[in-house]
Amino acid sequence: MVQYTTYECREVTNEDLKRIDAIVTVVNQAYTESEGISICKENKFILIRGYIYIQILNIVLCTDGWTTPKHIYGEPRTNPKEIEDLIVRNGTTHAFYLALDGDLIVGTVLHEKPNDKGEAYISLLSVVPNYQSKGVGGQLFRFLLNDMKKKGIPTASLSTFASRLEVLSWYKKLGFVEEPERVDFGWHYRDSEIKPDCDAELIIMKKPLV
Ligand SMILES: CC(C)(COP(=O)(O)OP(=O)(O)OC[C@H]1O[C@@H](n2cnc3c(N)ncnc32)[C@H](O)[C@@H]1OP(=O)(O)O)[C@@H](O)C(=O)NCCC(=O)NCCS
Repeated sequence: MVQYTTYECREVTNEDLKRIDAIVTVVNQAYTESEGISICKENKFILIRGYIYIQILNIVLCTDGWTTPKHIYGEPRTNPKEIEDLIVRNGTTHAFYLALDGDLIVGTVLHEKPNDKGEAYISLLSVVPNYQSKGVGGQLFRFLLNDMKKKGIPTASLSTFASRLEVLSWYKKLGFVEEPERVDFGWHYRDSEIKPDCDAELIIMKKPLV
């Protein structure tokens, strides 16, 4: 079992309005600027820029982010206006969280308010590429799930691209189970001003919290 450094995970506050640009950079680097090669010991495959999987090696080598939807997005994932809005309206329609290494913001994630089925949707999960594979994403995600549980939210849900097998397995390790339904990428952007020109398929995953 790998021993990771412990990172601070917390909900945003109005103080973070001073750090909007840093948050935008973390999200956009994770989603659209990450480069690199990862060779994963546990799963024994090599991933190059999110495109190729070969089951050959058994060593760990991370030059940068190990997984990115860059090849699907193309456009920046977020912008200062969206992040400002997420901070100002935190605790109303959603809860927005950060992971920090000291003063440095290294990760983000949010959950929406639960829908009428008691399912709260998780999105904007990002770890800045040079901090990936160091346990930040896992710690932030577990912190989020624990907080959702404390709030009494019955179910966590999320979506991920069907083609991103490595992220699917990452979510499965965290207890998420694939739903049979598939949805178009456009649905993911239902409330956003950014509408990427792409019709990739998304898988919905859920995890009961109670
Ligand atoms: C997905 C993401 C948040 C994960 O964050 P992270 O900080 O790199 O994740 P962690 O370091 O906590 O997790 C590392 C785990 O992944 C595993 N891992 C590392 N490289 C891997 C690879 N190439 N393939 C599969 N698993 C891999 C490690 O074995 C480790 O497992 P463990 O926790 O059981 O030890 C981050 O990679 C990211 O921001 N990606 C770009 C944005 C994105 O894809 N967001 C999700 C949209 S659906």
